[in-house]
Amino acid sequence: MPDSLPVEKAYRILESGPVLLVSTRAADGSANVMTLGFHMMILHDPPLVGVVLGPWDHSHRALSETGECVLAVPTVDLAEKVVDIGNCSGSTLDKFAHFGLTPLPAEMVQAPLVGECWANLECRVADEDWVRRYDLWVLQVQRIWIDTSREETRLIHHQGDGRFSVDGDTLDLGERMVKWRDLMD
Ligand SMILES: Cc1cc2nc3c(=O)[nH]c(=O)nc-3n(C[C@H](O)[C@H](O)[C@H](O)COP(=O)(O)O)c2cc1C
Repeated sequence: MPDSLPVEKAYRILESGPVLLVSTRAADGSANVMTLGFHMMILHDPPLVGVVLGPWDHSHRALSETGECVLAVPTVDLAEKVVDIGNCSGSTLDKFAHFGLTPLPAEMVQAPLVGECWANLECRVADEDWVRRYDLWVLQVQRIWIDTSREETRLIHHQGDGRFSVDGDTLDLGERMVKWRDLMD
């Protein structure tokens, strides 16, 4: 008989991609950063991403006020900080200063890029229809920055409850993607 798992633990199996940091800048000018694991690509053109970000997060207010954020993609060397950033609130702490993160100016949004991250995606809220029901924000990516000078590019994936997997080998099966040739470089 296979083992069973409570349905509330589905997130442990269907993890949604690399853990992100979400940076925001509130209308009063204060910048904040939080950890986010629940996200999904929705469409590639226009590039729409769904993120679950709820009122239990201080960042929620800034996102509601401004409709802007940056999705910053940390690598494995930042893993411990990433967890700590997701276990404290910007309402009582300047997280950029406390965690030694560098806020860099973005081009299309007021929220700062996170200098220590491998990639930064500037985003604007494109659709709020699902926020009330699911805390699900549909964001449109406006600009992407990649730090090509980094040696460490392995991303971390949250398996739930503080356990992570780390990117490993790459499997290139591009030649079999015959139906999707147009989408490939
Ligand atoms: C690994 C990890 C993943 C998380 N994923 C999410 C998420 O997908 N959505 C969310 O709203 N909060 C998520 N959180 C919780 C927030 O990061 C946490 O509530 C944080 O304290 C919010 O910061 P803020 O109050 O400064 O906005 C996650 C935390 C951790 C540690």
